[in-house]
Amino acid sequence: MPIKKAIFPVAGLGTRFLPATKAQPKEMLPVVDKPLIQYAVEEAYAAGVREMIFVTGRHKRPIEDHFDLTYELEVALEQAGKEELLAVVRSVKPDDMECVYVRQAQALGLGHAVLCGRRLVGQEPFAVLLADDLMVGDPPVLAQMVEQFQEWRTSILAVQEVPAEHTGRYGIVDGSAINERLVEVTRIVEKPAPQDAPSNLGVAGRYILTAGVFDEIMRQPKGVGGEVQLTDGIAGLLRREKVLAYRYHGKRYDCGSKEGFLQANVELALQHPTLGAGFRDYLDRLKL
Ligand code: G1P
Repeated sequence: MPIKKAIFPVAGLGTRFLPATKAQPKEMLPVVDKPLIQYAVEEAYAAGVREMIFVTGRHKRPIEDHFDLTYELEVALEQAGKEELLAVVRSVKPDDMECVYVRQAQALGLGHAVLCGRRLVGQEPFAVLLADDLMVGDPPVLAQMVEQFQEWRTSILAVQEVPAEHTGRYGIVDGSAINERLVEVTRIVEKPAPQDAPSNLGVAGRYILTAGVFDEIMRQPKGVGGEVQLTDGIAGLLRREKVLAYRYHGKRYDCGSKEGFLQANVELALQHPTLGAGFRDYLDRLKL
């Protein structure tokens, strides 16, 4: 059973990046030369997902434009014989990838955003990717999770160990180890204070969920911050179905914070095929 659909909640206001996000979505902020949302979409595509469901809001038009045909630009590049750039532009949306958009009129929380994708998802298991979390992995993190899903056929959350003092930033899971990578989740709590956290395993922004989660989200009262939380929906789901936490191979950059965003830019610039060497020289000189 392949995972064919993914939800990208992109309706948030991006207040942490003001003024950069005053008139453009935070998901369009570039890390080196690609907007954040493109990293997440490419990760989903690499995992076999072909239907990208964006849960958008006001001021999010640039995301729709980014994944659309850029007719004038393509014609201009073609006429100028700039084949390489043309290929870069066209690769943003491969022909077999479909993008659909649904609006979340009010920012009522991540759970609510996921619920907005319900009719487009239907009954199939689906992925959720939070573009704020830029994940670098080989194979890409969602592909690792899809591989686990093929074996276990149940919901899977990407997790990592987080510093004890940071539990208040994550959904935190507790459970029993199945093997060195997988934990069967027995409990999940949204953003607990360190003294209340059941463990230090924090959820990163990658999920594979069964459609049963939608009813569970609907059943939950408002959670942390007065918002409808995805974590609370998952807490409901695990009373009825197995939910696994998967310790992914790879690195997560928290691009929802300025520090994480800057780290991603520096590290991905260093790995960049054409910029990397020169950028490393520059950083070396800067240290002097
Ligand atoms: C969301 C989720 C949280 C998860 C985190 C990962 O929080 O609610 O459970 O651990 O993403 O980045 P947010 O960062 O949107 O506040």
